[in-house]
Amino acid sequence: RKRLTVPKIRDHKKDGETREPLVMLTAYTARQAQLLDTHCDLLLVGDSLGQVIYGLDSTIPVSLEMMANHAAAVVRGSYHAVVVVDLPFGSYEGSKEQAFESAAWLLKQSGAAAVKLEGGEAMAETVEFLNARGIPVMGHVGLTPQAVNVLGGYAARGRSDAEAEKIVSDAVALDKAGAFAIVIEGVVEPIAIAATEAVACPTIGIGASAQCDGQVLVTEDMLGMFERVPRFVKRYEDIASVIDRTVEQYASEVRARSFPTEDQTYQPK
Ligand code: KIV
Ligand code: NA
Repeated sequence: RKRLTVPKIRDHKKDGETREPLVMLTAYTARQAQLLDTHCDLLLVGDSLGQVIYGLDSTIPVSLEMMANHAAAVVRGSYHAVVVVDLPFGSYEGSKEQAFESAAWLLKQSGAAAVKLEGGEAMAETVEFLNARGIPVMGHVGLTPQAVNVLGGYAARGRSDAEAEKIVSDAVALDKAGAFAIVIEGVVEPIAIAATEAVACPTIGIGASAQCDGQVLVTEDMLGMFERVPRFVKRYEDIASVIDRTVEQYASEVRARSFPTEDQTYQPK
């Protein structure tokens, strides 16, 4: 099967046709990408890897190098889904030129197809600049975790009229600037729906609405790798307890010298 393309994603709701929602999950490693790839339209190498892989408190300290290494692994592990890489905090906000340099380097290092950046109206010029120079951009509005120090936390957005209007106008600005899709994160449902109806490109919800044009989750969250996850995460599995049970058994077999057995041991001929 051939890899999906950015224009295919961008045209998701062209001609007012209703299509099946887009499926996106995060991926940070080659093997993980391999397992998710056939089920997903898009794989996101999210800067959430800061918390998920590196144990950081927020996405603020994540570097371009970290993103490039994991993105390259995800591209190597996939052949079907469009691979999108997050531009990390501090690598794109300074100017559209800075954004181009960072994004171009990321795509050259990894082979990914597109970048994602946080922010609406303030980033519209940058989105247009990158798109015109060969770099497709996915937007991200509402709860934007890189702005945690401005927002003061990770609470849902769009509860006041001013906030709600800003989320919709941010989405419209990104759409007009040529974003091929927009993540809407942690936004009260009516505003997520209003933003989805206001833009031509598909919206991808996380803690937003089933009416978005697609959905995304952090894979480790939906697999149950963590004790604490946001309310908007549905835990489809409890992998943490599978690992716990399995490793407990391994440890007790090692301590009892019942592993390895003959099956796992080499003998001379
Ligand atoms: O970094 C990330 O995983 C994301 C998704 C949650 C949208 O940006
Ligand atoms: Na992110």
